[in-house]
Amino acid sequence: MIGENFIDKYVKQIRAMSPKYDVVYELSKDNPIIFEDSKNVKLSMAIIADTHLPDRPAAELNLANCFEDLANSEEKFDAWLIAGDVADYGLAKEYERFFRVLDNQKVVDKLFVTLGNHDARFTFGKNNRIVMNKVEQYLNIKTHGKSYYSYDIKGYRLVVLCTEKRVLEKAYISDEQIAFLDRELAEGTENGKPVFVMCHQPFAFTHGLPEVWKTGDMGEQSNEVRAVMEKYKNVFFINGHLHGGIFEKVEEVLNEENGVYSLSIPGYRKENNFGITDCGVGYYCEVYEDRVIFKARNFLKGEYVHGDYTRFEYKLK
Ligand SMILES: [Fe+2]
Repeated sequence: MIGENFIDKYVKQIRAMSPKYDVVYELSKDNPIIFEDSKNVKLSMAIIADTHLPDRPAAELNLANCFEDLANSEEKFDAWLIAGDVADYGLAKEYERFFRVLDNQKVVDKLFVTLGNHDARFTFGKNNRIVMNKVEQYLNIKTHGKSYYSYDIKGYRLVVLCTEKRVLEKAYISDEQIAFLDRELAEGTENGKPVFVMCHQPFAFTHGLPEVWKTGDMGEQSNEVRAVMEKYKNVFFINGHLHGGIFEKVEEVLNEENGVYSLSIPGYRKENNFGITDCGVGYYCEVYEDRVIFKARNFLKGEYVHGDYTRFEYKLK
């Protein structure tokens, strides 16, 4: 059993190696988010990943920038998603800081949170309760002790997948959870609408894996979960974990014929590894009747991100 002392020592060592721990970023209000066709947006979402929040005031302030950036826009955001690795060491104080920001924000109606390996690696059960209690509160749902859930927002289904036990890096997705995904996708895509699925870990051999990160995939159930997703039309898989940045592998076509895609959201708190490496970068999503658009945004600085792979548009099948 790993005790607090070990964790404290580990935290101190890592902190000493991270000179940027206490940098507070300034948010610009000069270039607010503007949708491409505001009048016709059916659903809008802001998406980040890997806040890896340490128990430091600067980290809390920097996370709050994301919501301030959304508040600074005249566009309405229906949902905010974080694709896991909420807390850096999975400590109660880190979650306190993280959820204080979410509790205090007044700009997004619905918040979707999932656990990453940093949340699950030491104390899965305890942290799952912390996170799911908040999810239940934010979405007014019951998760019945599980780590995965779904929610319908403005007629669109969001499905959140998650490991079900303590893991070092990969996820454990039970047969029950795979069956749940299958049912949710069948129902959610029935009327031709896109469904959005979020999980911290991406599929094996996507987004440059394993070269970009030797052990960075979902794990044993990766192929099985992917096969379920590929059965349905217009499925958008949102994941994090890789800290890849905005590079040529940020987007992956999982199934061209059915319109099944995967997007690897860059890490929010730390510099990323490839391409545009800036921290604070995520994507926001505009859903229209016939298409879905993802656009990169630096939510930490309140800036658009320019260059390749910063805008994806998908015509619905
Ligand atoms: Fe991770």
